[in-house]
Amino acid sequence: MESRRSFLKKSVLIGTAAALPTLPSCYSSIQATVPMKTKSINKAAVLWYSQTGNTMRCGKVLAETLEKNKIDVSSGEIRDFNENSIKNIDLLVIGAPVFYYDVPEYVKKFIQSLQDLEGVPVAAYVTFGGPEGNQYNAACSILEELALKKGVPVGLSFFQSISSFTMIYDDEKNFKTKENTILPDRKTYKKVREYAGTIISEVKNGSSSTFKKSLTLREFSTFFGPAWWTKKFTDNHYIIKEKCVGCGKCREKCPTKSIDPDSFTVNTDTCIFCLGCVNNCDYQAINIMYRDKRVVGFNDYLKKNNLSFEY
Ligand SMILES: Cc1cc2nc3c(=O)[nH]c(=O)nc-3n(C[C@H](O)[C@H](O)[C@H](O)COP(=O)(O)O)c2cc1C
Ligand code: SF4
Ligand code: SF4
Repeated sequence: MESRRSFLKKSVLIGTAAALPTLPSCYSSIQATVPMKTKSINKAAVLWYSQTGNTMRCGKVLAETLEKNKIDVSSGEIRDFNENSIKNIDLLVIGAPVFYYDVPEYVKKFIQSLQDLEGVPVAAYVTFGGPEGNQYNAACSILEELALKKGVPVGLSFFQSISSFTMIYDDEKNFKTKENTILPDRKTYKKVREYAGTIISEVKNGSSSTFKKSLTLREFSTFFGPAWWTKKFTDNHYIIKEKCVGCGKCREKCPTKSIDPDSFTVNTDTCIFCLGCVNNCDYQAINIMYRDKRVVGFNDYLKKNNLSFEY
């Protein structure tokens, strides 16, 4: 059977022709439409969406670095924040993982739910398992939404991490570093701290930047709905009653309210196949078959291979 990667490569070529008419609007510049509200940051919010902790780890380091620079920082999962809890900020940083070549829809919807940012400096970062996809473009998607809300773009970065797309574990070993540790690690956090420093100086200098999505062949694969294709090769997604302890973690992690451990049901029509349930269940109670093999959850994978994060 054709592998997911080779299928996508073929799709990219066919998609090139089909997608050409839609390109100009997707690849316009992302830039400030209003002046920057302030050149001094007193209060900031660093918010992230994180299914398996990579984006959270980087977000925490970023928030700590801002705090060390005497900035009052609110930080955490975006689901715990709303319009009111990020009022009167002088900087907003949003982080997300790359899922299916882009940032999750949930993150875009959160930004769309905010009121106008009226010149607040904004920055984005993504974590990614790579090498597939365009991490720069994914981070641009966050900035694009923030700029539409009249945020002033000051920074964008991306940090390689261990992949939580557990289906690739059989045939790809490239998520470990040479030292056999997993990312993000010490070096990643150094990069995160440097990024925080860059954001601070950009705001101090009052310099906003213009970003533009780059056009790569890989980009075309997104026109084919990679999540849809992954789901197509998936079946038997359900909760194993006998194993479930009712901890509720799967429900908490599900961005589409598709799983209900009280009734042991999964709505596979609304499920977007983010793997949040299987990756976070500590009791192997989520069954998902992908190409006739049971999907191993992220936490189980780490345990099985005796892997842990340095920090
Ligand atoms: C459903 C799913 C799709 C993914 N798609 C991509 C992708 O297209 N490109 C990529 O580089 N990494 C991909 N990844 C890997 C994640 O981006 C990476 O592991 C990220 O650091 C996870 O962040 P988190 O731990 O904060 O959730 C995917 C992971 C999942 C679960
Ligand atoms: S995370 Fe696992 S054990 Fe917890 S409620 Fe969901 S299925 Fe049950
Ligand atoms: S049920 Fe589907 S959408 Fe919800 S966490 Fe699981 S994989 Fe993601």
